[in-house]
Amino acid sequence: MGDAATLPSMIAALTADPGWREPMAFLYRAEAIDQLDLHLVGASGASLRAQAEGLIEAMEAIDRELFDFLRGRIRRGEARQALSPWIASEVMPGQHYDALDALLAGVLAIDEPDVADPAPPPEMVFYQPSPARHIVDGIRRASISASDAVLDLGSGLGHVPMLVHMLTGARARGVEREPAYVDSAARAAFGLGLGRGEVAFTAMDARDADMTGVDVFYLFTPFLGTVLRDVLAKIETEASRRPLRVVALGPCARSFARMPWLHSRDPDPAATDRIVVFRSSP
Ligand SMILES: C[S@@+](CC[C@H](N)C(=O)[O-])C[C@H]1O[C@@H](n2cnc3c(N)ncnc32)[C@H](O)[C@@H]1O
Repeated sequence: MGDAATLPSMIAALTADPGWREPMAFLYRAEAIDQLDLHLVGASGASLRAQAEGLIEAMEAIDRELFDFLRGRIRRGEARQALSPWIASEVMPGQHYDALDALLAGVLAIDEPDVADPAPPPEMVFYQPSPARHIVDGIRRASISASDAVLDLGSGLGHVPMLVHMLTGARARGVEREPAYVDSAARAAFGLGLGRGEVAFTAMDARDADMTGVDVFYLFTPFLGTVLRDVLAKIETEASRRPLRVVALGPCARSFARMPWLHSRDPDPAATDRIVVFRSSP
């Protein structure tokens, strides 16, 4: 299908259909913007391009109003109800991002800092956010609730603690080695009205984190090798004191799967393309 044939028919269909103007129709708009962007590549004809770009601008303006509306609800303590229309029950494996990530980018409004030296030290992994559907999946599978204290080890820009707290009411902390990420995460949490008793971020090496009282550890493979070994030893010490859960995403799940003091009901505890939940052995 050529661009010249497709773009006019898309524009005609969207012009005739008022559905995308509905504020809650975020997924419809996200899909339409993707398609328009795709068909704009290499499209010729100034008037056609202007119409397509005008539609995209109109859709993005409605998205911005939706983000403001949802941020207002989050500030009023209604985060779970506000976000529930976009939380799917089925979770696709894999590292790709989807419309939930796009929605949260607008709602959380985290400014991504320029990090002077983006190359991490040996054994430490560079920043990459967990796809939001996996965070939601981890919350469900680990049964995280308001009575839990959650610690994200290597919290990056803070999506995990913010989303975990907003969806469950759990106290959620993050520790992160890059201070600029911590500043951005803390600013975003403050902007959403999340107090430090609810969501907090600290710039530090995960090996030095205070793990006292933590019920749930979240790790999206932040480090490997001896760093992971040292952190695992600290988590094991905590596990000797109380039952705890580890929510793992990515290759670090393989290391947890080898620990005799952890068990998982997952049919494949070494899976790396989705969340695996481990529980300390009684
Ligand atoms: C793959 S990202 C995960 C970010 C976040 N947890 C999420 O799931 O969206 C890993 C993060 O761990 C951080 N990190 C790596 N080594 C660390 C260490 N030793 N202590 C604290 N943070 C570390 C990196 O800077 C990076 O932001």
